[in-house]
Amino acid sequence: MEDSHVGRNMRSACVFAAARLGFLNEYLPEDRDPVHAWPVIIFVSFLALTALFLGAENQSPRELPKKVYIHPPTASHIRLPDGRNLAYSQQGVPAERARFSMISPHSFLSSRLAGIPGVKESLLEEFGVHLVTYDLPGFGESDPHPSRNLNSTAMDMLGLANAVGIPEKFWVVAHSSGGMHAWAALRYIPSKVAGAVMFAPMVNPYDASMTKEEKQKTWEKWSSKRKFLYILARKFPSFLPYFYSKSFLSGEHGEPENLLFLSLSKKDKALMGKPSFKEFWERNMEESVRQGDSKPFVEEAILQVSSWGFNLAELQAPKNPEGEGLLNWLKSFYSLTEREWTGFTGPIHIWQGSDDRVVPPSTTDFVRRVLPAATVHKLPGEGHFSYFCFCDECHRHIFSTILGTPRGPLDTMAEDQTASDAPTEEITGSHHSGVI
Ligand SMILES: *[C@@H]1O[C@H](CO)[C@@H](O)[C@H](O)[C@H]1NC(C)=O
Repeated sequence: MEDSHVGRNMRSACVFAAARLGFLNEYLPEDRDPVHAWPVIIFVSFLALTALFLGAENQSPRELPKKVYIHPPTASHIRLPDGRNLAYSQQGVPAERARFSMISPHSFLSSRLAGIPGVKESLLEEFGVHLVTYDLPGFGESDPHPSRNLNSTAMDMLGLANAVGIPEKFWVVAHSSGGMHAWAALRYIPSKVAGAVMFAPMVNPYDASMTKEEKQKTWEKWSSKRKFLYILARKFPSFLPYFYSKSFLSGEHGEPENLLFLSLSKKDKALMGKPSFKEFWERNMEESVRQGDSKPFVEEAILQVSSWGFNLAELQAPKNPEGEGLLNWLKSFYSLTEREWTGFTGPIHIWQGSDDRVVPPSTTDFVRRVLPAATVHKLPGEGHFSYFCFCDECHRHIFSTILGTPRGPLDTMAEDQTASDAPTEEITGSHHSGVI
């Protein structure tokens, strides 16, 4: 604020140029013949500079970009103990008839409209699932939080569970960076969580318990821009709003790859081309940026890369670390198979695509090393979105893996009364196309 408009713009432009040119690194593999490399470098520099100037003018000559539309509100709301409004949606069977309740915190550029993208109401009914999704603070229709952290994120989930009448425990379902909030639930409210279902969950890229090799394997899969943004979030987060204003907060739609600086696998690209996914993505993105403020996104980015206050390794720790002495040594023979754990003791299921370039498989290998009790389901050839989104067989497979044989909703005496419940809210137009 204190410096001049021009100075500020110049500085932002420089940082932006650095980011745009950052992907040059990828065109500089050492083992290539420099004779071939130079024309590429010059060509790419030219493209990058062109993109930069066109971007700066804010007038690209491509076909008219689709504008982001802010929809009339559709969410249900609760008031949390600290007075904030939390927006949520429900799918599947009502809480009182649910055999299983699930809460799904969303990922970075997402909202309550995501949940399990494309999941059929009939499948939720069949397994007796009550699925609750919500907008993180500052996203969608939820009020911002003045000082968000991973404990407050867990407390929000707890408040939501109580408010929507989840009687006991709930499953936490998370995809990608939504995983951060799921880890938080396992850490801060373990006794409320029945189990965790995660799809390519992100871990803190700076997690102290990651070995050098593990870090390297994860970082090398990311585009230079993405690495650059992680570094910015960690070191200079005040620059983030500028980048966001040029991508998902520009008021225009774009390809997910460009909006989020992702590299996508073949299967992911195929999914992005499907009208059902496109419609879902655009509607969900419009909901995510509803408030037009970069602050919640910056908060989220900072949370992802700053110290979480816990390591994943601490989520499930052996209760009695093997002591010294003959007696303990003898005991260990008998208790090999049933070691006792503290912290979160329920199941953790992780699905991971082998061709995921957003949260690469090395991330899940790391999780498995530090959380040996987690069950990892490897998905050959799948990407970051391809298994989790708009795949009926996959959704069925996920539910039967974690919940067993479908047994429908609970049989309650009140079955006839369900019609007199609160008016059914519209969850999303796009989501339910084809579902009655
Ligand atoms: C988390 O937040 C709640 C509610 O503000 C507080 O009571 C609790 O002590 C906090 N827990 C930790 C570990 O900070």
